[in-house]
Amino acid sequence: MAHTIVIFGASGDLTSRKLIPALYSLFKKDKLDSVMRIVGVSRSRFEHQQFRDSLRESAAKFAGSLFDAESWDEFSQHVYYQPGDIKEAADFDALGKFLDEIEQGENAGRVYYLSTMPQLYEEAIKQLGAAGLADDDAGFRRVIIEKPFGTDLATAHALNDSIHKVFREDQIYRIDHYLGKETVQNIFALRFANSIFEPIWNRNYVDHVQITVAEEVIIGRRAGYYDSAGILRDMFQNHILQLMMITAMEPPAKYDAALVRDEKVKVLHSVRKMTGGAFASDTVRGQYAGYLSEEGVPPNSQTETYAALKLYCDNWRWKDVPFYLRSGKGMSCRTTQIVIQFRHVPHILFGQKTRSPVGNRLVIQIQPAEGIQLHFESKVPESEMKTRTSTLDFDFNQTSKGDMPDAYQRLLLDAILGDASLFARSDEVELAWGIIDPILAAWRSPAAPELFQYQPGLWGPTEANEWMGNQHHREWFDVCPVLTHP
Ligand code: BG6
Repeated sequence: MAHTIVIFGASGDLTSRKLIPALYSLFKKDKLDSVMRIVGVSRSRFEHQQFRDSLRESAAKFAGSLFDAESWDEFSQHVYYQPGDIKEAADFDALGKFLDEIEQGENAGRVYYLSTMPQLYEEAIKQLGAAGLADDDAGFRRVIIEKPFGTDLATAHALNDSIHKVFREDQIYRIDHYLGKETVQNIFALRFANSIFEPIWNRNYVDHVQITVAEEVIIGRRAGYYDSAGILRDMFQNHILQLMMITAMEPPAKYDAALVRDEKVKVLHSVRKMTGGAFASDTVRGQYAGYLSEEGVPPNSQTETYAALKLYCDNWRWKDVPFYLRSGKGMSCRTTQIVIQFRHVPHILFGQKTRSPVGNRLVIQIQPAEGIQLHFESKVPESEMKTRTSTLDFDFNQTSKGDMPDAYQRLLLDAILGDASLFARSDEVELAWGIIDPILAAWRSPAAPELFQYQPGLWGPTEANEWMGNQHHREWFDVCPVLTHP
């Protein structure tokens, strides 16, 4: 079906680094309708051709080996620019006229992508509604909303309310780019396209789960946003809880947006609420040394750049299995991984360690070394009966030849095709805030646990290792992945 993608915030970074390269890549792979237009909207003044030219360099850079000048020229003829200020009703009327003009009465479906400052989301939605641009009698009308979706439960709820005044829930696509990653979607395949894992994917066999999103980078020039957000809002409320939901959910009856999200939401419902002493015993907060000297950071900032949480899902499958979630900036390396640590054998025959079982572990590498490893004990050759940990290794890049599509390709295509399975639903976002808000409140209270400082380049505060070791008698899986592709 003919479609038009309207990007608000078109002069921003996300448009040039992610959205246009993703749309160009989809075009190049013949995944977009031939009757397709992309309209950039922002306050700057550009001619169409100027706007196209301004995007060329980053498209070449981010589309990588897929890029060639000829197809770019062809693609860029589908790209238009319309100046507009989100606060000006007249600009939305003008946008409506412009869209009608280029669509030439084709009843094209439209996707509005809000890539503006989050403070403008509500206003943009209101204006779309007032200008009649959300009416979907002639063709579909969908809206994609970038993160952050609110800054706490109250603001997320208010934002949902105002969007629902204009768009129905089935027209709303809340982005979490982690869901667009191939390796995240592969968790569905690993769990639900095989019968060998699911029977042991539960409290009877799993000792605990670790989800780590470690980043080597520090905050750079993002202090303005980051210092008021902190790592719980920036990484846990969205990406890390998404990884937890997909790891912990029950199999849906069908792979369908409503049913998949129903199952994910049930996981959030089951998360045990932290109360009282749990805020101190089940959380660790840290800040990398040097954070306070970053440009724009207040000298007394208490913002966390590292956090570790222990959560439980109070349900039949996971009762009393700890989910350790952690993320940090300024860590040893960039790695996102999920570790399913299985229980130790019930009876020791070969003198293995009894504490902290090392083998018996499935590691799902989300990035950058996309793959899965199964660690298990095997006999040391020529020893009497000593064992050591061996690994079965699946490298995603061997099958995809190193060409893993960027998350935005999948998400943009799904929104155009009307598949919301990989987008967050309103209840999902609010429940996630409901888990994060009390922790943030406890961390901002006079009884907040200590904010530990850590040296960049390590695995976060040493106290987080002691917390895991002394209190929980377990170990973090602190392994930097080995890259097999450039
Ligand atoms: C973003 C956060 O949502 O995700 C950033 O705002 C973070 O702080 C980024 O660096 C991580 O994404 P990825 O895809 O590089 O793991």
